[in-house]
Amino acid sequence: MPSQMTRCFKPYFRPRRNRKSAAIRQLIQETYLHPQDLIYPCFVIDGQRRRDPIASLPGIARLSLDLLLKEVERVAERGIQAITLFPVIPRELKNERGEEALNEEGILLRAILTLKQEFPEICLISDIALDPYTSHGHDGLINERGEILNDETVEFLAQIALLQAAAGVDMVAPSDMMDGRVRVLRETLDQNGYCHVSIHAYSAKYASCFYAPFREALSSAPTFGDKKTYQLNPANRREAVLEALLDAQEGADILMVKPALPYLDIIYKIREETSLPISAFQVSGEYAMIMAAASHGWLDATRAFCESALSIKRAGADMIFTYAAPLIAEAIKNGVLD
Ligand code: PBG
Repeated sequence: MPSQMTRCFKPYFRPRRNRKSAAIRQLIQETYLHPQDLIYPCFVIDGQRRRDPIASLPGIARLSLDLLLKEVERVAERGIQAITLFPVIPRELKNERGEEALNEEGILLRAILTLKQEFPEICLISDIALDPYTSHGHDGLINERGEILNDETVEFLAQIALLQAAAGVDMVAPSDMMDGRVRVLRETLDQNGYCHVSIHAYSAKYASCFYAPFREALSSAPTFGDKKTYQLNPANRREAVLEALLDAQEGADILMVKPALPYLDIIYKIREETSLPISAFQVSGEYAMIMAAASHGWLDATRAFCESALSIKRAGADMIFTYAAPLIAEAIKNGVLD
């Protein structure tokens, strides 16, 4: 009889006791999010007073250096202590070999120099790959058959790393997925007096459709083929562990998983396999999805970003690259997470 069953039912275990008040919920909270866990990706473009919004990344713009300085000041006030830079290179400066990457007067190197002067205490991370600079949008050099050349690319990346190190960057972040690049970068930096520059390796970087808004921002979508011969197959987990362990062995200081939310199992797995710090990149498409839903009133963007970031930390990431860093930092300050 249903009414009798309701009266008799007495669970022995009552986990709800640990959730019965805010104070108790906080006592048992396992994971926390802080502004200092966040790394804010920024797009820098040549010019003055230039703010080019990116349609698929609402709230994010390509900024000229003068405005970028203001943006960094704004986010630093919210407690964000790390940023990563991506250069926007005009079409006429791109070529098949990505030679603009070595231009000492180029926008990225100037941005590194100036930011480091103005904000010496901010951790400045620069991306190392050729895709912002190549006319074909691939991360490496290509041969006449359109194949991505590994070893030649690695040598080129090492030259780029030296220029960025000389400009004063704290960490170089190779995002190219060429084999053996961490070792060559480490050796090249060390041999040239930059043993203090860290290598933040994009270790488990998947061939993901979630990079689409980023490629819009840089006009860097590949003009032929795809990135599957260097980025990882989304179906694979063991391969990600292999990449992470190789990067660790080659001298990486921090290992990255990218994208983040669709790859929480990879973060968790790599966390079990290494003692190195792990970062996760909540990529442009992840940001765009939440912002798109929020623009319809279907989600609260701030809460969605906070919950995603907390989940990424819970999975095992120590730090998170996210375009929502200022939003999340503000939310933490306002107690949205409490
Ligand atoms: C390029 C690079 C990409 C991103 C960071 N570095 C795109 C790609 O590999 O095509 C993606 C970042 C994002 O989507 O937010 N090496």
